[in-house]
Amino acid sequence: MKSTQDPVSVLFVCLGNICRSPMAEAVFKRVSESHPNVRIGQLDSAGTGAYHSNEPPDERTMSTLRSHGITDYNHAARQIEKEDFHKFDYIVAMDKPVLRSLLRLRDSVGATDSSKIADVRLFGDFNLDGTVNPRVGGGEEVPDPYYGGIKGFEKVYEQVMRFSEGLLAHIEKKRNPDG
Ligand code: 4NP
Repeated sequence: MKSTQDPVSVLFVCLGNICRSPMAEAVFKRVSESHPNVRIGQLDSAGTGAYHSNEPPDERTMSTLRSHGITDYNHAARQIEKEDFHKFDYIVAMDKPVLRSLLRLRDSVGATDSSKIADVRLFGDFNLDGTVNPRVGGGEEVPDPYYGGIKGFEKVYEQVMRFSEGLLAHIEKKRNPDG
């Protein structure tokens, strides 16, 4: 059983790991700074695909982050690996195809102790009030902005801000149900 003292680790996952999940990681880190009662452990992001491995985030992700005052984020894209399911408390998917890939991969990991395997969710399953969608994958998806314009990246920013607040509220509630 996790206590309020245990740091929480989160891996954010999209397809390419250059647009949405790096944005989610950078924004979650920023938002978590206003939740000092949640101890943050490892934060990272990854892709289900390896097409962009070792590349920095898309310039539109970086400029959107900069326009919101986040200027200290660095990342090199990587593909998710099986060990990630043992390293992170939460693995959150940006859309349903990514969620399906993650659930398949988690099944193939074959953990014997379920408490040691990541909780896999759609990022949009976390509501602002700290509740979580009763159906895994029943929440809002973060659409892929790669082939669109900068407006799509601003929309991603707005969504991942909301879902970061939701996930942090969920962690607070779960670890301190009376608080
Ligand atoms: P992401 O966006 O999954 O949010 O990083 C994408 C980036 C690149 C590609 C697809 C999605 N791609 O096919 O190259």
